[in-house]
Amino acid sequence: MSVNTAKNRLDYQPPAYVISQVELEFELLPSKTRVLAVSQLRRAEAGATSLWLDGQELQLISLTVNGKDWTTYEQRPDGILLRDLPEQFELCIRTEINPAANTALEGLYLSNGAYCTQCEAEGFRRITFYPDRPDVMAVFTTHIIADANLPFLLSNGNLIARHQLADGRVRVSWHDPFPKPCYLFALVAGDFDELTGSYITKSGRNVALKFYVDKGQQQQAQFALESLQRAMKFDEDVYGLEYDLDIYMVVAVDFFNMGAMENKGLNVFNSKFVLADAQTATDTDYFNIESIIAHEYFHNWTGNRVTCRDWFQLSLKEGLTVFRDQQFSAAMGSATLCRIDAIKTIRTAQFAEDAGPMAHPIRPDVVEEMNNFYTVTVYDKGAEVIRMQHTLLGAAGFRCGMDLYFQRHDGQAVTCDDFVQAMQDANQTDLSAFKRWYSQSGTPELSAILENTATGVRLTLRQQTAPTKDQADKHPLLLPLRYELHDGKGQIQSGLLQFASAEQSFEFTDLQLPVIPVLLADFSAPVKFSYAWQTDELLYLSQHAQDGVARWDAMQQLWSDLVRRSVRDGQLAAIPSGLLDVLGQLIRSPLTDLAFSAELLTLPGFDTLAEQYEQIPVEMILDALESYQQQLATLFNADWLDLYQRLAPAPYRYSEEQTGLRALRNTALRYLLRVTETPDSLWQQQYTGSDNMTDKLAVLQALVRAAHPQAQQMLQQFYLQYGHNVQLFDKHSALLASLGTPQVFALLDQAEQLAQFDWKNPNRVRALYAVFGQQNPAMFHQADGAGYQRLASVIGKADVINPQLASRLVTPLLSFKRFAPARAALMQQALSQLQQQGLSPDLTEKLNKALHD
Ligand code: TRP
Ligand code: ZN
Repeated sequence: MSVNTAKNRLDYQPPAYVISQVELEFELLPSKTRVLAVSQLRRAEAGATSLWLDGQELQLISLTVNGKDWTTYEQRPDGILLRDLPEQFELCIRTEINPAANTALEGLYLSNGAYCTQCEAEGFRRITFYPDRPDVMAVFTTHIIADANLPFLLSNGNLIARHQLADGRVRVSWHDPFPKPCYLFALVAGDFDELTGSYITKSGRNVALKFYVDKGQQQQAQFALESLQRAMKFDEDVYGLEYDLDIYMVVAVDFFNMGAMENKGLNVFNSKFVLADAQTATDTDYFNIESIIAHEYFHNWTGNRVTCRDWFQLSLKEGLTVFRDQQFSAAMGSATLCRIDAIKTIRTAQFAEDAGPMAHPIRPDVVEEMNNFYTVTVYDKGAEVIRMQHTLLGAAGFRCGMDLYFQRHDGQAVTCDDFVQAMQDANQTDLSAFKRWYSQSGTPELSAILENTATGVRLTLRQQTAPTKDQADKHPLLLPLRYELHDGKGQIQSGLLQFASAEQSFEFTDLQLPVIPVLLADFSAPVKFSYAWQTDELLYLSQHAQDGVARWDAMQQLWSDLVRRSVRDGQLAAIPSGLLDVLGQLIRSPLTDLAFSAELLTLPGFDTLAEQYEQIPVEMILDALESYQQQLATLFNADWLDLYQRLAPAPYRYSEEQTGLRALRNTALRYLLRVTETPDSLWQQQYTGSDNMTDKLAVLQALVRAAHPQAQQMLQQFYLQYGHNVQLFDKHSALLASLGTPQVFALLDQAEQLAQFDWKNPNRVRALYAVFGQQNPAMFHQADGAGYQRLASVIGKADVINPQLASRLVTPLLSFKRFAPARAALMQQALSQLQQQGLSPDLTEKLNKALHD
């Protein structure tokens, strides 16, 4: 294992040599793949004669410069330093690699017999010696030689040749005319089913769309194909951006570290984000597929045509592309629901990251292992930072900024500063105050006070950001604040404020208190905010705020106030009758937007509530949530039943209307299953009678959450019936791992023994242990520390196989300082034990940060 060395953003140096073209030839064999790389290099830095090439786990066979064996180089564990180089030369390197032994799933590896690559962020160095940095952009030509039993040999760009070789093997050649960094290189070789479609761009070019999936699954790629067509249209309509090659390919693989990868012209996807039909995928799966397909497609412009200068700039492409996929999802369905989803991610995972040892700005300053910085901060807070620019500039201004960004930087590797500069210049405005969002980590806390003055009402805002692990000094940020003011009968004013100092007052003339404010409508800035709303004011807002997000937020606030009071007093606070009235009303006559009604009837989750406490009172939050849900179940039992029965399902189709109906009906089901009077026939009928996985799984989820006596038996039945399908096997694992009773430990043991379980497959491991660590607070935080021990031992095992996987699983243990001393000590102990073992650089970076001050 190599030693970690921190890299600093400010140490950036342009490359000494640039590469105009590279020609790769792969001779594929499972444990001995030969790679030949022929690159054309030219000096870029005056006087430079040496060049660093990254390389890891490579066997060097030969190295020539301008056709001559080159001996003036130094080989190190992580690469080669070439010396005495001329101004311009051809570099020819032969290496041998072992895809069959590659369980890290970085570089070239095998997934169920198919070869595939994953090069972002720094995986290309496991394929050949190369300047593995995004600011070296070259035109790639790729030749693949393989046995005839691998009929599909794919790489970036356009297919330019296919030959049968004398020895029976096949040689194909691909050429990608767009210069690109090596992290966008991809190669796939395997036997697949192919699903083909097409798209005609707005300028009339015909693009072939091709999906490659495991044999027999062709029809399950249909929804993904249609999603791609919708995404292509959206990018043309909203941003004027057209696709630029004649072919767009998507390959689904079962072994994959993340969701998907935007390799130029050849996306590689985790199969769970491609394959869907009514029998195997839920409404949530459909939603995720559509949004991830769009995300990777949108990268073609924001990421590929314009890429990152260095990895500190990752949010340049990821924050922007997440923002774009969120806009797309909002346009395809309910904008409010999409926004609520995004807000939940920020309030749970992102706020937790800010409050823990891995806190970093969306543009980090120091990185040890780049794989550790594909975070909710870089991605999701990054998207919020883009969204705020969109809010400040307006849709038209934002579009002008995007146009200028592409006009200036197409074909370049650039920085976050370049992006903001384009936004600024296109709008003739000054965003310098705003730019602190890129460099400051932590969650700002915003508070507000309203008072009467002689002439009207004064709104005083304060902001403050607590120090984070990485950064002690904090400064005020520019917050775009969408507000509404109500007088109790309706909205009297709304608008957008810009708040950029520690404290500032805004005057509203011709008003008198009482005024009920909505602050941060649409969650217009990613901050925590507080205002002393009265219960009846929140009840009012939950029904009358103009902004849907604000209505939902008012409900969330009511519940979190109740939980807070219960925690403070050590006894359950009574649900105010006004809240019960509003809920009863909603159950009896839901809003036309059924999915939104379901959200309003659902309490905030444990993680959202937890982020509001400096020291997280685990049992108290869980107990309060449990009691409140039980109360709603009992009090409204008849109404829930009535609602459930009124919402009759139609034959399955994935549509906004049907998704909403299922969401609300299954919300009712969840409450119904908490009451013993509910006959088993009700859920049994839904389980056996429904024609889709959404409704079947909802039954199991409801049984598990209600700790229903039949939960385990039904899980077993589900496994026997559906466990042969890997997607459904993972759903079974996830349900099992979220059981909130101590039996979960024995069940996890058993699940690891099942034939379909595989420590080498990240989806299998995550379905059990990302869920256990992140979605089962009761058992993960069990007071004796058994949950911590379990997760730590799994991480130790996973790290040897796949460091990226292990490093992601450790997240819930890192924030031990947020818990009461006894619990924190147990978590810390689990981490320290883990540290006894020789760990990957990935885990080493995180554990060092968590355990040492
Ligand atoms: N760039 C990819 C995306 O956001 C994600 C990604 C980064 C990735 N590193 C990865 C995927 C490693 C798989 C493995 O779409
Ligand atoms: Zn991305």
